[in-house]
Amino acid sequence: MNFEITPLSLSGACQDKSDALIVLVSEGFKPGKDALSQLIGHALHVKDLEFKAGKVLPAYLAPGIHAARVWLVGCGQGSANNVKTAIAAVMPAVKLAQVANLTVVLTSSLDAVALQAAVQGVADGSYVYTTTLSKPTPRKLKKVRLGVPALNAATQTVFDTAVATVSGVELAKEWANRPANHATPTLLAQAAQQLAKSAKFTCQVLGPKEVAKLGMGSFMSVAQGSREPLRFIVLQYHGAPKQQAPVVLVGKGITFDTGGISMKPAAEMDEMKFDMSGAASVLGVFKALGQLKPSINVVGLIPACENMPDGLAIKPGDVVTSMSGQTIEILNTDAEGRLILCDALTYAERFKPAAVIDIATLTGACMVALGAVRSGLFASNDALAASLSHAGDQALDLCWRLPLDDDYADGLKSNFADVANVGGRAGGAITAAKFLQRFATTFPWAHLDIAGTAWKNGAAKGATGRPVGLLLQYILGQASSRAIVKPRKDKTGASKRA
Ligand code: BES
Ligand code: MN
Ligand code: ZN
Repeated sequence: MNFEITPLSLSGACQDKSDALIVLVSEGFKPGKDALSQLIGHALHVKDLEFKAGKVLPAYLAPGIHAARVWLVGCGQGSANNVKTAIAAVMPAVKLAQVANLTVVLTSSLDAVALQAAVQGVADGSYVYTTTLSKPTPRKLKKVRLGVPALNAATQTVFDTAVATVSGVELAKEWANRPANHATPTLLAQAAQQLAKSAKFTCQVLGPKEVAKLGMGSFMSVAQGSREPLRFIVLQYHGAPKQQAPVVLVGKGITFDTGGISMKPAAEMDEMKFDMSGAASVLGVFKALGQLKPSINVVGLIPACENMPDGLAIKPGDVVTSMSGQTIEILNTDAEGRLILCDALTYAERFKPAAVIDIATLTGACMVALGAVRSGLFASNDALAASLSHAGDQALDLCWRLPLDDDYADGLKSNFADVANVGGRAGGAITAAKFLQRFATTFPWAHLDIAGTAWKNGAAKGATGRPVGLLLQYILGQASSRAIVKPRKDKTGASKRA
């Protein structure tokens, strides 16, 4: 799908050559003399159209308007949430009408978050998964023009970021949606390598031998119950000088989670194909980085394997040795995410990171706590937590911080190893985070539990592409704040800090 942004008045929109127009009508709307203004003015007057976000009024072959189809949509005060509601309300009709060429007209200037919501909303509402269908109905929408009252450099930048976010989100959705037999650790690693071909990244893929050499005994123990060989994927994006400490993203890449010997019940187990959504979000972020090329260094680490029951699988009570040297008693083989992440966190140390953020569909408990609205955020560092929260707000990809008091780790005590892989049921999202924290002691660290937010179930079953938006927003924020402290040469040639 191709997005472009252009200054467009309502009279300009009347001449627009697209198949269809969506006109977002927000409060304070001032009609001109053109046909669209007249239509909107009249519809508002007789109350067939309201400003309330999500009110939709369709028109067909309206006189004086070139596009055959027009949807007038109430957009409240034009806030980000209003735009999200408005676009979500009209997109089913756009999809049904098989529109290929769409123009979205904004009657008032939107703030950055709302503009981003418009782009993301059109993408979300037209997305279709096709990979494993024999006769897919692919996405009809090919071209989307965003018509804004005025276009300046700042708006253009917001728009470019939004478009890159969409492409990252869609890559994440694609990989998360693929069934586990079409998204094995090997295939995931190939996808990462493919990405690295097209932009300024490097991608290194480690297999079972290399991972054994590194001593990742915890990660290996999860993989040992599967016929699919594990992969450890290392992506590196260099947008800044080499000596600048990178942000490291670690994505949980369990391509299928049966629970292992502590097996899950059958109902909804298919959804455990989404257990690599953290990994998919890392791929999505890298895709967007390749498009935006910000001046920052980013490393992506993906431990990928299946969690299967087998004659060779780990058993409850088994003790394994992690790369950090800490021994772990595996009391529940279904708490496997933390077992693969802990070794990836230890591996992250070699990059001397500015920050490490892991992203994981880690606990059902987090879904219980926060539902599908906000991802769980844990952080050992307040500044990092604040930046991530803020990034989530900016990207409409929300998260909520949960505590990390040491008392929460009490349940992780073991008589047979340094630590157990599960505590009790109570506070399960937090004990999982406390487990991870033991392996993240040498850098500022944050953990995003996306168990509730990475996919939708029911009729709308499918990946959301979250938290690509949040992560990208955070990274771009870091890139611009670092740019300010970069040494600058003054006229005498001496370096000086801005
Ligand atoms: N992948 C699951 C977490 C999960 C479950 C995400 C359901 C989304 C929906 C994870 O590996 C897991 O099984 N966690 C266990 C941990 C427990 C054994 C301590 C859980 O949440 O039940
Ligand atoms: Mn599990
Ligand atoms: Zn899992």
